[in-house]
Amino acid sequence: MLKNIFIRKNFRFKLELFLSFLIILFSLNIYSQEQKVADNTKCLKCHGKYYFQFYNEVLSDTIHKRMNPYFIINKDLYKKSVHRTFECTDCHEKEYEIYPHAANLKLESKYTCQDCHSGDENFAKFHFEEIEIEMQKSIHGREMGTAARCEMCHNPHYYELNARKKDKISDIVQYSNQMCLHCHNYKTNRFYLLSDSIAVINEKSHPWLPNHELHFKNVRCIECHAEYNDSLLVAHNIMEKEKAVKKCIECHRSNSLLTTSLYKHTLKENRDKFGFFNGTMMNDAFVIGANRNYYMNAISIIAFSIIIFFILFHLVLRLIYKK
Ligand code: HEC
Ligand code: HEC
Ligand code: HEC
Ligand code: HEC
Ligand code: HEC
Ligand code: HEC
Ligand code: HEC
Repeated sequence: MLKNIFIRKNFRFKLELFLSFLIILFSLNIYSQEQKVADNTKCLKCHGKYYFQFYNEVLSDTIHKRMNPYFIINKDLYKKSVHRTFECTDCHEKEYEIYPHAANLKLESKYTCQDCHSGDENFAKFHFEEIEIEMQKSIHGREMGTAARCEMCHNPHYYELNARKKDKISDIVQYSNQMCLHCHNYKTNRFYLLSDSIAVINEKSHPWLPNHELHFKNVRCIECHAEYNDSLLVAHNIMEKEKAVKKCIECHRSNSLLTTSLYKHTLKENRDKFGFFNGTMMNDAFVIGANRNYYMNAISIIAFSIIIFFILFHLVLRLIYKK
């Protein structure tokens, strides 16, 4: 009886149609959630570009001027950031909608990360409170005092979840190291220049490290410079240079500090995702035979996609041959 129903073409066709419809709806839903970004055109028409225009009532003319490069917000990075759903005026005064901006806005007190994230259960897994304590203990906290703020490394406009979200080690390393190199860099303009005494690194700063360009692409600065903290995914206590890891053998051995023996560099949550060994800040070369359940996941996703493809393909053929 049941078998009879399934053999009836009409029913099977409807079932397939219905399932495909559900799948499409589901994918669209995921897609639209990914894409949700606040519309900030009213600010970005000036702050999103190298120049801006405004109507000068005194001169009765439209004026074309250059934007201060430090006040340009990169739209693409903003769209990728964790705060992409925010309107600019969620964090900045509403009065900024008026141009010329009122002079007293320069004194605007801005929200800090902690104002919004401290004590909020939704963000408990990040341990914002503990990160703050670690930062104050760090060399930056000690040397720079109140100038050591989260924003000096985390741009509130562009902050992305990096180690927790990304899969490619080289991307994670690059994003992370870029933060440090904003300041400790002799090549670029020092964006957040705060002190003349800043320790700029160059080819001569890590002379004992062979091929430091290669190392900087494969390990994060914090691997060697930050003290391990068990409850944080990313250690924030950057120590003075004397305490940094210098021994090659700490990484270059079978149970490297980058894997499990010294937990210092193990990205705990990523580790769960990639399998025990692969989640550390490691290049594939070091993890032969590591248990890669991540790839099992990838395979099942591919298999699932193929099945969906065939269902849809089948459906199209049916529609064509129906006539
Ligand atoms: C007509 C162009 C224009 C528009 C629109 C505009 N701004 Fe500005 N903004 C500027 C310019 C130019 C500056 C450079 C400093 C100045 O002239 O006050 C600036 C400066 C700023 C600053 C830095 C102030 C400081 O000195 O620290 C902030 C923050 C800011 N704008 C936020 C906003 C926000 C938020 C919006 C949208 C609600 C917005 N602006 C809309 C042109 C504009
Ligand atoms: C999550 C909060 C947040 C949002 C959303 C936000 N800002 Fe900001 N913005 C800040 C903070 C905090 C600073 C101060 C950064 C610092 O001191 O390093 C700042 C600084 C600025 C500055 C001055 C840069 C400087 O170096 O002083 C401009 C211009 C600016 N924001 C424009 C915008 C525009 C345009 C948007 C919307 C597209 C926006 N902001 C959205 C928090 C935010
Ligand atoms: C005005 C309040 C506000 C400020 C200031 C702010 N955040 Fe957020 N942040 C939020 C909210 C709300 C969300 C959740 C956004 C969402 O889910 O769309 C969020 C999301 C995040 C997330 C992602 C959480 C997740 O699970 O995806 C991180 C990490 C984060 N913020 C870090 C920071 C850092 C670092 C700073 C300081 C540079 C900062 N935030 C400043 C309100 C704020
Ligand atoms: C000296 C630079 C520096 C300072 C200052 C700093 N951080 Fe970080 N932070 C980093 C680096 C590097 C990462 C690693 C980025 C990644 O891979 O996600 C990170 C990651 C994070 C993460 C993501 C951790 C996770 O579990 O996914 C949070 C949240 C965070 N920082 C919050 C803060 C807060 C809050 C402050 C201020 C109290 C702060 N940071 C100050 C450099 C800094
Ligand atoms: C906003 C700029 C800024 C950023 C971003 C920054 N630093 Fe620093 N850093 C400083 C300043 C300023 C000092 C104090 C330097 C001095 O007075 O010699 C310092 C000191 C240090 C020292 C100690 C040097 C010594 O002589 O003992 C180390 C190590 C260090 N930073 C590593 C890092 C790492 C790793 C990152 C990224 C996670 C980072 N810094 C991000 C500004 C910055
Ligand atoms: C392999 C480990 C390792 C890595 C990776 C590493 N460092 Fe270092 N770094 C050290 C050690 C060890 C010292 C102490 C230098 C010495 O004694 O010659 C040092 C010194 C420094 C100093 C002080 C330089 C000076 O001349 O006073 C700064 C600043 C610094 N590192 C920043 C960074 C930044 C930024 C990165 C990432 C791009 C980084 N380091 C990557 C191990 C490392
Ligand atoms: C923080 C961990 C760490 C430390 C400390 C460290 N390395 Fe490395 N090293 C790496 C990683 C990761 C790579 C990248 C491996 C790759 O891409 O094949 C690497 C690459 C190398 C390479 C290049 C290998 C190749 O395939 O070309 C040499 C040579 C090297 N390291 C020597 C050293 C020496 C010598 C020291 C001590 C002075 C040292 N390393 C310290 C992590 C480290």
